[in-house]
Amino acid sequence: MYHLECIECHNKYQASEVVYTCTCGGLLDVIYDYSDIQITKKDLIGPLSVWKYRALLPVEREPISLHEGGTPLYRVDRLAKSVGLKDVYIKHEGMNPTGSFKDRGMTVGVTKALELGMKTVACASTGNTSASLAVYGARAGIPAVVLLPSGKVALGKLAQALMHGARVLSIRGNFDDALKLVRDLCDREGFYLLNSVNPYRLEGQKTIAFEIADQLGWQAPDRLVLPVGNAGNITAIYKGFRELKRLGIIDSVPKMTGIQAEGACPVVRAIRNNAAMITPEGKPETVATAIRIGNPVNARKALIAIIESGGTAETVSDEEIIRAQHELASLEGIGVEPASASSIGGLRKLVDMGAIEKDESVVCVTTGHLLKDSEHVLAVCPKPIEIDATIEAVRRAVFSC
Ligand code: F0G
Repeated sequence: MYHLECIECHNKYQASEVVYTCTCGGLLDVIYDYSDIQITKKDLIGPLSVWKYRALLPVEREPISLHEGGTPLYRVDRLAKSVGLKDVYIKHEGMNPTGSFKDRGMTVGVTKALELGMKTVACASTGNTSASLAVYGARAGIPAVVLLPSGKVALGKLAQALMHGARVLSIRGNFDDALKLVRDLCDREGFYLLNSVNPYRLEGQKTIAFEIADQLGWQAPDRLVLPVGNAGNITAIYKGFRELKRLGIIDSVPKMTGIQAEGACPVVRAIRNNAAMITPEGKPETVATAIRIGNPVNARKALIAIIESGGTAETVSDEEIIRAQHELASLEGIGVEPASASSIGGLRKLVDMGAIEKDESVVCVTTGHLLKDSEHVLAVCPKPIEIDATIEAVRRAVFSC
């Protein structure tokens, strides 16, 4: 049993209602009757996947699935040493079916769309959400409409949305403009909105927390570090850890630590200013186009997650993002897109500032795969060395500095 509840006024809505925010404007959460959920560590033995945790997901029908979740948690000792910590892990969400964490939300969200009898799904996106929605829409056999900020979506993501048959609209505006438009479109046309303002989508994403605890032998790390854009994922993961604690499966909840790009950092500024709400930024800009967002829809939930958990938020420059992306790729063999690398850049910065204790265990979530954004790789890495097809030329090129 579950219902939707406003995080501000606690107004309740039935699970069967198609509603995204409260009449007071507040964000909604899915609230279960936790006394009904009898789940122990023993019930959770077996291979990882989003649907392993079905008892804590708000869906009744057979899922629309491509085997999402079950992503690796890598221990990264060389990176840990380089930043000055002992215990660092990477939860590599780029290993999901479409190459980003969005699949966890979409398997649940698109299944919910069918359960609610919705005929078309829609979203605004900086790229990954649209790729995932296109794929899960195709898997479900229903049309998907995606609104993208023109010229600001990495090619790999655009290619996915196009190839999987979404109706792709390139908006002359930024992500925040596209989100406003798609919300209006969904209200007018009865399309099902699958941005992270939809609380059912976030339920899928909370399984990142379940898997991390599962992979660490039912323990939470001291701290979780992840990029923040529209601010859904940090809130979803926090909810996941809190649910595990409430059910007595883990003892503690990690300090939720959000990283934003210097050019798009409304959540960081609100945390610095002790503000209860963000001030939107009109012209967000960063190389990490996935998190190029000035007015994150889930900001209120994110601020609560950061403050309640004793976490923090910090910015990274575009240079720090690219350096961190290179470092993770070359030092540990883990290829992530720029937005994801911001968690590594942020970790280093916070350790240097003394904001993270040397003995903390930290999990960084890397949200998307390197191959999502290959044009950018060509722009920041050395060019391939073109040579004649002779062994002398090969040897010269291999051994020259
Ligand atoms: N990392 C990547 C790779 C993303 O694509 C996003 C968000 C985030 C981090 C931030 O997550 O929004 O939950 O705080 N991408 C959205 C999209 C906005 O449209 O693909 P968030």
